[in-house]
This record gives sequence, C-alpha cells and structure tokens, in this order.
Amino acid sequence: MKALKYLNKYLWKYRLRLGLGVVFIIISNVFAIIPAQIIRVAFDVVKESLQQYQMLEGSTFQDEYYTVLGKVLLIFGGGVLLMALLKGVFLFLTRQTIIIMSRLVEYDLKNEIFSHYQNLSLSFYKRNNTGDLMNRISEDVSKVRMYLGPAIMYSLNVTFLFIMVITTMITVNPKLTLYVLAPLPVLSVSIYYVSAIINTRSERVQRQLSNLSTFVQEAFSGIRVLKSYGRVSDYTQNFKKETDFYKNKNLELVRVNALFQPLMILLIGLSTIITIYIGGELAMAGEITTGNIAEFVIYVNMLTWPVAALGWVTAITQRAAASQHRINEFLQITPDIRNGVIGSDQKEIKGDIRFEDVRFVYPDSGIRALKGVSFEIKAGESVALIGKTGSGKSTVADLVGRLFDASEGRVLVDGKDVRKHNLYSLRRAIGYVPQDVFLFSDSIAENIAFGLNEVAFDDARVLQAAKDANVYHNIAEFPEKFDTELGERGITLSGGQKQRISIARAIIKEPRILIFDDSLSAVDTQTEDLILKKLKSVMKNKTTLIISHRVSTVKKCDRILVMDEGQIVEQGSHEELLRKHGVYSQLYNQQLVSA
Ligand SMILES: Nc1ncnc2c1ncn2[C@@H]1O[C@H](COP(=O)(O)OP(=O)(O)OP(=O)(O)O)[C@@H](O)[C@H]1O
Ligand SMILES: [Mg+2]
Repeated sequence: MKALKYLNKYLWKYRLRLGLGVVFIIISNVFAIIPAQIIRVAFDVVKESLQQYQMLEGSTFQDEYYTVLGKVLLIFGGGVLLMALLKGVFLFLTRQTIIIMSRLVEYDLKNEIFSHYQNLSLSFYKRNNTGDLMNRISEDVSKVRMYLGPAIMYSLNVTFLFIMVITTMITVNPKLTLYVLAPLPVLSVSIYYVSAIINTRSERVQRQLSNLSTFVQEAFSGIRVLKSYGRVSDYTQNFKKETDFYKNKNLELVRVNALFQPLMILLIGLSTIITIYIGGELAMAGEITTGNIAEFVIYVNMLTWPVAALGWVTAITQRAAASQHRINEFLQITPDIRNGVIGSDQKEIKGDIRFEDVRFVYPDSGIRALKGVSFEIKAGESVALIGKTGSGKSTVADLVGRLFDASEGRVLVDGKDVRKHNLYSLRRAIGYVPQDVFLFSDSIAENIAFGLNEVAFDDARVLQAAKDANVYHNIAEFPEKFDTELGERGITLSGGQKQRISIARAIIKEPRILIFDDSLSAVDTQTEDLILKKLKSVMKNKTTLIISHRVSTVKKCDRILVMDEGQIVEQGSHEELLRKHGVYSQLYNQQLVSA
C-alpha cells in the first residue's frame, strides 16, 4: 500500500475537485435517505387513516376522506420521485468531479512516466523489454486510475452512507439494526475473496492476450520471412494453440463471474428476510411501527451494494498498489547520463574531438568493447575509422554523443570533457547517422526535417539536404515526392534509400560534427563514390568521422584510423597504411580479391 503514497502529490494538486466530490457525495446520500423516511411516514399515515376510514363507515364523509387520502399519498409519491431525481443529479456531479480527477491524474502520470523514460539511458532500454515499458505506461497506469477514480469514490460513498444510515437506523431501533447488519460483513468478505479470484484470473487472461498480440505482431512484421520459408501453416497451427489457451483462460474467468451475482443476491435477500421477520415481531410487540419495517427494508438495500463494493474496492486498491509499485521502480531510476551543465551560456562548439586512453565495458553484457583508445580529430578535419566487425567502431561513435559514458579515460570535445558540456548543446552539434537506420512513420520531408529541431521548417533546406545526400532523384520518382509516407502503412524504401534519407536528416542542420556509422554499406561502390563527392562540400570545415569496414569508402580520406579488437592499431593515409603491410593492407587485399 505504501506505493500508492506516490499519488498523494496528484491528489493534492486536484484537491479542489476531490473536495467538491466529497460534498456532492454527502448531499446525494442525504437525498438517498429522505425517501425511506417519507415512505415510513406514508405507511404510518395509511395505517392510521385506515382505522379512521373504517370508523366513518356509513357517513357521507367516507368518500371525501378517501379522495383526500389519495391526494396525500400522491404528494408522498411525488416527494420520493423528486428526492430520487435530486440524488441522481448529485451522483452525476460526484462522478463528474472524482472520475474526471482520476482521468486527469492518469494523463499527468502517463506524461511523467514518458518523459522520465526519454531521459533514461540506452542501457536502461537494453535491460528492459519494450513490452514491459509499454505495459507500465498503459496497463499499470489504468489500474492505478481505477484506484483514484472508482475506489476512492466508492470508499468515500460507503463511509458517509454508513455513518448516515446507521445512525438513523439506531435511532429507530438498535436491536433490529444489529440483526439486519449481521450478514453484511459476510457479504463484504466473500466478495473480497471472489474479486481476488476474478482478478488473478483476469490477469491470466490479460497476460495471454499480450502473448497473443506479440505472436500476431511478429507474424505480421515477419511475414516476408514467414512466407519465404514456407512456415505459414505452422504459424496458423500455433496461432490456434494460443487462441485455444486464451479461450480456456476466459472460460475460467466467466465461471467465477457467474458465481458473483447470485452470491450477492442471496446475501441481500437474507438481510431483507431478517428485517421482515424480526421487524414483524417487534412491530407486533409495539416497539416499532410497520412504517419502520418498510424504512428498514430500504436501508438494507441501500447498504448492501456499498458493502459489496467494499470488497471490490479492496481488491482494486491492492492491484493498484502492485501496479504503482512497478511504476515507481522505473520512476526511481536516475538516468546514468546526466546533463553536466544546465543553461547554455557556453561558447559554440567548434568540433575538436579527442579520446584519451578510453576504455569501455558494456554494463550489461560485460563485454570490453574499447581497450585504451586514443586519437584526436582537429576541428574541420575528416577522418575515417575502419576495422573488422565487432572491433568497437560504433562504440566510439556512441561515446562522442554521450549515448554512453566512458568507463575509464576521457572523451573531450573542444578540449573539454564531454561530461562537462551541456548535454543538449553537445548533441545538437552532432549530426549522427546510426548504423541501423530508423525512420519514423511520417512523410519523407518530416523525416529529413527531424534533424532541425524546428516545428516549422524550410522546404528549400529539405530539398538541399536530399540533394546533398544523393537521394533527391529517388524521391522525385515517387508520386507524392517529399510527401510520400514511410513506415508501416507507407512505402517500403530500399536499404540504400533509407541510408541516404538518414544522411539527409543528419546534414540538414549543418552540425559542427558529422558521424557516419557505416552509412554507405547498402549502396554499391559507384554510388558510394558519387555520394562521397557530393558530401565533400557539406563536410567542408566540419569535423567528420566516417566509419566503415570497406576500404573503398575510406581510401580517399587524408587520415585513416584502423581499429582491431577495441584498439587503434594503425593510422595514416591509404598509401602509408598499405606500405605498413599490417591489418589495413590485409583488409585491402581481402576486399580486392572478393571484389
Ligand atoms: N549495446 C550493447 N550492449 C552490449 N554489448 C554491445 C553493445 N553494442 C555492442 N556491443 C559489443 O561490443 C563490441 C563492439 O561492438 P561495436 O558495435 O562497437 O562494433 P563495430 O566495430 O561497430 O562492429 P560492426 O562493424 O559490425 O558494426 C562487440 O563485441 C559487441 O558485441
Ligand atoms: Mg558498428
């Protein structure tokens, strides 16, 4: 239950709504109690009038008396109706305040979690799977909302209703009150247990449902592989198995649900029978009037639903506590990569990059990716980084933009440790083309302009960037040009087209530092030459790091760094390196043969 304390700040934020909700609950309960009293009075009036009516037997007044009595009863009836209406109005207002409050908190909480997620580092995303992240922000938040809305509303309602109804009942007759209330705790406890069973079973259904959707989602996104391997019918069989399991889980749930309603009706009926039996005896003994019996029957019916709700409320509160606990787990993680300087009063970044004996171990796998890397790239210089797969090239790129921080040694930009830079200005100064291209489900223009950090962008700049990245002629062939939608429902780009759009996205903001991580691997060497030529003017005066494992990409660079097993083993120009007959010339010869 402690986990739910976290939500108090939100309850405080919306205290006015909550307070108003409490007032409405009290008022609606007053209007719920008054009809019972009207009915008691009406019963008693009828009983007395009946005796007088019989006394008037034979006189001319009898008919008149009858019509007057009818009118009086009609007024009573109207009164009950009016009270019910007023109660309804205030019930409506209660829901409007408290349930709306829960929706507002849900909204706030979702936003809080999402922005927290965004600040967490890549290693957090490595440790936790996407499904889990999504569940906490959707499923868990909605369970918490059930606590904030219905649970709080019903428990407040029960509290006030109890205080009001029971005091009224005791003033009428304490003994009858005791008998009538006896079955209610049994009702509450048994509903608590039944709801607990319902909850665990519905959680099983939920879990199977998410298994099912993961299965379906994979089958759809992997449809190409599925079809080409001829595994479609196997998958259809597997899907049958999964849905069968889902169906069984649902049937188990339905069985308990079916038990729930009759149980409630049984216990409510029991209370009503006791009221009439004991009440009848008391009335015959003259301790209470028959009107009181009618009144009590109404009270009992008023109390049973809230008492039942109490069991249900306890169950959803427990569930919400478990969910909030899971949410808190993530909210309490502090990001590993924190902004070193708040405020952007520093000078503009020039783009000098220096690695000083940098070592890096991936925190989760324990893989030592960099084992003492030192090099310097002067501002405005273009340098290539080549090496076999797994040698640590991408890791070097990640350390410049602080996607990770070095485990040992220092990474300096403009002579200052990257950890002492303003994180956002640093990242804004870097144009990064990641190795695995990711494009958003949006138009091509929006995807390229993503690099700009601006909502309103200049079409001319998008066009220029596309031209510089040598992708313009492809875009021009699409019927909708720059408005062509990418992603799930959009067109499928070729690997090389994706890479070049990703390059356009990086160069559009004219960053001081450009990092191309294997960004030309999906184009042929001829196109590669063409792109590199075009990029020359873009790269002018900018610090550029071109990562590749192809000699053809890097051979024209003035300086080439050669990486092997997490270390820089050679550096120099293409010719110099060939003369060394080391790792580079080995790579060169291998690639000559295969080409
Ligand atoms: N996020 C990560 N978590 C754990 N280990 C990682 C992670 N990324 C890379 N590694 C490991 O670190 C080592 C260096 O990987 P890196 O991606 O830097 O190589 P690379 O030179 O870029 O290779 P490639 O040419 O195939 O892209 C590899 O052994 C790899 O398995
Ligand atoms: Mg790589």
